[in-house]
Amino acid sequence: MNDVLWLMQTAAAHPDLTQGRAPAGLLTPAEAACFAALKTPKRRHDWLLGRWTAKRLLQGQVPGNPEILNNADGVPLVTGCPALSLSISHCDDRAVCAAAWQHTVGVDVERIAPRQPVFVQDYFTPLEVAQVDQAAPAQRDTLVTLIWSAKETALKVLHRGLSLDTRTVQVTLPAAPPAAAGWSPLHLDCGPQGSFPGWWRMEAGYVFTLAVNAR
Ligand SMILES: CC(C)(COP(=O)(O)OP(=O)(O)OC[C@H]1O[C@@H](n2cnc3c(N)ncnc32)[C@H](O)[C@@H]1OP(=O)(O)O)[C@@H](O)C(=O)NCCC(=O)NCCS
Repeated sequence: MNDVLWLMQTAAAHPDLTQGRAPAGLLTPAEAACFAALKTPKRRHDWLLGRWTAKRLLQGQVPGNPEILNNADGVPLVTGCPALSLSISHCDDRAVCAAAWQHTVGVDVERIAPRQPVFVQDYFTPLEVAQVDQAAPAQRDTLVTLIWSAKETALKVLHRGLSLDTRTVQVTLPAAPPAAAGWSPLHLDCGPQGSFPGWWRMEAGYVFTLAVNAR
């Protein structure tokens, strides 16, 4: 993952972000129009924090103020930079973005929280269900959150989002224990859609996942 750029930011990074206002100069006119069309305070907060994070990530990669607009499928694209892959995720007061020039990238952040067994039954593959069943009770919530986040990341890499069945993605974690800090590897097998490497890390009660696919 050496050629993947990534950045996590919280809303505390700028006072306007906590107020749901765009910091001066952040948005291009087209982005400001998108922002104005967003209805709920939560969506406005999330969207803004994602743009803030992405633009900071892209400083030095793209000249000037990069314009980030979503295509019809929701995929974030940087205007004038078709070779640059960008992915955005937001959860609570934090956002994470990843970008790569040589690969298609996906990223996701999820708060570690309990989920009902029916969630696992409905959205996970049989192998993932078995892995959750075998987990120590104290590890269950983290494992379920991690597998879910990795699926969302894979679906972003594929540019499909939840238009694809989440069971299309098989998440495999290595038997070796995860790194004490930083990124640990995982593998994403999406059947006919391909398979590719991913990574995950845990910080302050949140799980982050990231994956890249060759172009
Ligand atoms: C893509 C998806 C997996 C996002 O997961 P999520 O946990 O809900 O939200 P996250 O914060 O992690 O990610 C949202 C970001 O994913 C990106 N995204 C959306 N659709 C995408 C797609 N098809 N491929 C890649 N990235 C996508 C966007 O950048 C979005 O942020 P932005 O709109 O602020 O730019 C999923 O929500 C989805 O498929 N959404 C589109 C369809 C949908 O359900 N729409 C209902 C909206 S109410």
